[in-house]
Amino acid sequence: MLLLYNFILYNFLIMSKLNNILILHCWPEESLLRFAYLANTGNAYTNYMNIGTENLNRNKLLEIMIKHNLIKLGIFMDINCNQSDYILEVANSEQLYGPRLHWLIYDNGFSFQRMIKLFSQAQLYLNTDLTYVLRNPMNNHFILYDLYNKGKHIGGQLNITIDREIACTEIQCNLHRYLSSLYDRDRLQHRRFLTNLTLRMTAVVNTKPLNTSIEELLEFLESQNQINIDTYARFSFQSRKILMDILGCNFTYIFRDRWTSDDLSGGLIGDLWDSKADIAAAPFIYSPSRARYFQALTQFCSFRAVCMFRNPQSATAGFKFSEFLDPFCWSVWLVFVGVLLLAGILLWLTFRLEQREWKPSLLTSCLLSLGAACIQGAWLTPNSTGGRMAFYALMLTSFLMYNYYTSVVVSTLLGQPAKSNIKSLQQLADSNLDVGLEPAPYIKIYLETSDQPAVHSLYLNKIKNSKKSHDRIWLTAEEGVKLVRKNPGYVFIAEAALSYEFIRKYYLPHEICELNEILLREETVTHTLVLKSSQYAELIKLSELRMLETGIHFKIERYWVRTTLHCYQNNLTVVVGLANAGPLFIMLFCSYVVCFCILCMEIIWHRRQRLRQGNR
Ligand SMILES: *[C@@H]1O[C@H](CO)[C@@H](O)[C@H](O)[C@H]1NC(C)=O
Ligand SMILES: *[C@@H]1O[C@H](CO)[C@@H](O)[C@H](O)[C@H]1NC(C)=O
Ligand SMILES: *[C@@H]1O[C@H](CO)[C@@H](O)[C@H](O)[C@H]1NC(C)=O
Repeated sequence: MLLLYNFILYNFLIMSKLNNILILHCWPEESLLRFAYLANTGNAYTNYMNIGTENLNRNKLLEIMIKHNLIKLGIFMDINCNQSDYILEVANSEQLYGPRLHWLIYDNGFSFQRMIKLFSQAQLYLNTDLTYVLRNPMNNHFILYDLYNKGKHIGGQLNITIDREIACTEIQCNLHRYLSSLYDRDRLQHRRFLTNLTLRMTAVVNTKPLNTSIEELLEFLESQNQINIDTYARFSFQSRKILMDILGCNFTYIFRDRWTSDDLSGGLIGDLWDSKADIAAAPFIYSPSRARYFQALTQFCSFRAVCMFRNPQSATAGFKFSEFLDPFCWSVWLVFVGVLLLAGILLWLTFRLEQREWKPSLLTSCLLSLGAACIQGAWLTPNSTGGRMAFYALMLTSFLMYNYYTSVVVSTLLGQPAKSNIKSLQQLADSNLDVGLEPAPYIKIYLETSDQPAVHSLYLNKIKNSKKSHDRIWLTAEEGVKLVRKNPGYVFIAEAALSYEFIRKYYLPHEICELNEILLREETVTHTLVLKSSQYAELIKLSELRMLETGIHFKIERYWVRTTLHCYQNNLTVVVGLANAGPLFIMLFCSYVVCFCILCMEIIWHRRQRLRQGNR
């Protein structure tokens, strides 16, 4: 017995580095004490259960095995006890050969056949950690076997691999020799090829009816043209093809027309949830309700649904005439005019006091001060010191005003294009703007089922109670993006990755800068998700990480998904064209007309004066 005890502790403490051990035994009391003493000196925490007796407490057993908080619990079982077969049955039905338990099963009888008989139909997994030990009666050496099954549910076979031979004395155990290359790598690395297995995959197709033949659907998913239709489905399908090559397996397919009907059940996610599929072709979002059942393996790609529109007011895009008056408010303009008039009057007084030969009129001196304000200089300046001082002050004031004014105008011209004041989804829902949507299931179902008030009122106001016909609300991304460009104020809701492609294609640089964006849902990323209990989780995760590290994934992602729009500020040319300066010319024209009238009146008045003098 002592040899066996030493071996058990050697296997758990040294080979597997586990301190928590459950011993399922049918040993006599005094030898149990002996083992407990040995385990204590080796710092092992042990729990014992006698499986030689008839009345075995199944619930207590399950509680110990399942409800522990350890990363891994070691279990030793002597296969020669009365209830051993029953325990194996329980392990099968309760799926206890998972990665959280390390099984060490010991057979005294050295019967290879028995091991095969016991486990050929057992519910073993790819990530099972089960060591079967036979004791060679010739030299008392222990021979270890590693057992697993790459997928019993899809026709996988039991794999028994011999590992090593261990020689034990009454004091300690030592490795005698390796019997295979199993020791040189991690357990999972030995099992990483799923050759000859066919995993079940569930995929989403929206643009083709589901009764299309499988060949046609597969051909469509593998095609690379027209990246705007079924982008995510095809992008992720092609990424999974590479995963298939890495794993060396084959897939059978289930096709669905949606991700899910209500966050968990139905569609692609429902298939995973019901264990109808091992892996999903398309990634999805890791939400709180899904977190109970799924685990996220790797990040797949970003996911943003946006409402985009151009500024409603900017129908006459470019620069508005009123912006020439914007730099100062009305009071400033009034005071400035007042100052100029006052300066004009003061100048007039100065010229009068200077007793010149030719005295400019009041109007002329006002014209002089206006010329100073427009940085035109003056052709007539006062001679007296006081007058010149006043003139300096006037020039200086207008110099400052003028520079300030031009800087403000220039900075408005070069600055950001004004964005709309509709900044939130609720404002959008309450506005009178026209809305169109991309008919993708993730947008449709999100709008219909979301419990966020803003999204719900958007759905009610713009879709459910809209008077527009169905096909004028649901537009393809290409049509929608074009409409947004054509009609400022038209709102289109779509997934960013697809619409950006068309925006790049059709928009002028300054139109890209003008685009307003409101997020329909929080910006997030999608993940590759599998069920928490999936035996392939670790393997898929490692393979996907490899794809991320080698850049294969990004190569495909860059082909399918656009994440940024470039708004080149330098390209932003503000057109101050004749169209916008029109009022100026009209004003000029009007003033010419007025001048002409005044001229005519002056001529008539002059004639009458002459006539009157002639009559005298
Ligand atoms: C069994 O697994 C080992 C590695 O664990 C592998 O080398 C061997 O090829 C497998 N045998 C079969 C029949 O799959
Ligand atoms: C698929 O179903 C639609 C009706 O749901 C039918 O009109 C169409 O002919 C079917 N296509 C094939 C290939 O069976
Ligand atoms: C994968 O399965 C399909 C159909 O089930 C078969 O046509 C194909 O040849 C298989 N591929 C490989 C590599 O085994």
